Amino acid sequence: EKGGYDYFMLKEIAEQPKAVADTLLGRIDGAGSLTLDEVRIPANVLREVDKVVIVACGTAFHAGLIAKYAIEHWTRVPCEVELASEFRYRDPILDQQTLVVAISQSGETMDTLMALRHAREQGAKVLAICNTNGSTIPRESDAVLYTHAGPEVAVASTKAFLTQLVACYLVALYLGQVRGTKYADEIRAVVRDLASISGAVERVLETMEPVRELARSLAGKNTVLFLGRHVGYPVALEGALKLKELAYMHAEGFAAGELKHGPIALIEDDLPVVVVVPSPRGRSVLHDKIVSNIQEIRARGARTIVVAEEGDDAVVPYADHLIRVPVTPTLLQPLVATVPLQVFACELATARGNEVDQPRNLAKSVTVE
Ligand code: M6R
Repeated sequence: EKGGYDYFMLKEIAEQPKAVADTLLGRIDGAGSLTLDEVRIPANVLREVDKVVIVACGTAFHAGLIAKYAIEHWTRVPCEVELASEFRYRDPILDQQTLVVAISQSGETMDTLMALRHAREQGAKVLAICNTNGSTIPRESDAVLYTHAGPEVAVASTKAFLTQLVACYLVALYLGQVRGTKYADEIRAVVRDLASISGAVERVLETMEPVRELARSLAGKNTVLFLGRHVGYPVALEGALKLKELAYMHAEGFAAGELKHGPIALIEDDLPVVVVVPSPRGRSVLHDKIVSNIQEIRARGARTIVVAEEGDDAVVPYADHLIRVPVTPTLLQPLVATVPLQVFACELATARGNEVDQPRNLAKSVTVE
């Protein structure tokens, strides 16, 4: 059942290139246009949408945080992302022009279900991004875009996350396409880049041995911090969540720009800090800022574990450990940058003798509020 792997999680990590490709399959035509027939919400309704609200929990919430960057950039429609468990209790502002996107692997998460019910009661249209055919969340939504990750057994979400990201990009690009955007050329280019992203994920997987070795060497640590900027910030949050649930370690993700507002006080000698570095090409200002963050924490004793694009030489002098990921457009980088963090958490859990597929106190699908 585990296909020769020790854990379902390892199998599911390895399945990611295929899962990503399957989620793209049939959704982009030969001319590079998106053909999301499943999104039954009529184009004229999508053109009138004046706000997108994403609701989700845990890892799916992190996919939503990344989606916000893509949606706002490509469509110029304001996008909020909210933890489903908080959403309906604060009397959110919703109407017929709000598009609510509910992201859920299982399609049975009660918090997310209650949030979408609340949204529909207020007249909002709900689009589900879901991995489980016929589950409750898609059944109760106006439309559904299925992720084709295949069944995910391990409690820690891996391939579902990558496919949620792909689905979010498709929604963002589709909204841009339907509504018309000044980024039409960029959208066409990104659609082309998406076509090769599965190969990029595959290449990451081929270079994971040093990451495993590093993880094993950190098995005795109590804390690991994660830093990122822009879409690397939710990747940092996701890396920290994986480590908490699998390795039972104290792990925290921060926006690197927030360091100086408090978290830098946590830095002490030999504290492992994983830094997700944005591409030096796209938003180069951010890249330069994060390089100085790495210098700052290293000067205070941190052991820097740097996830950076191939060819990014500026980080080399400050990286105690360097994890390379393939070159991608900035917004797509989470698809490659998350993978080493999954492998890292899985290996640390194993090294600490934890049950990888079934971490303590957790359930695969959380059907209570
Ligand atoms: O099935 P869902 O995507 O709605 O589940 C949401 C969270 O419970 C889930 O992502 C959880 O955070 C994972 N165990 C994280 O690995």
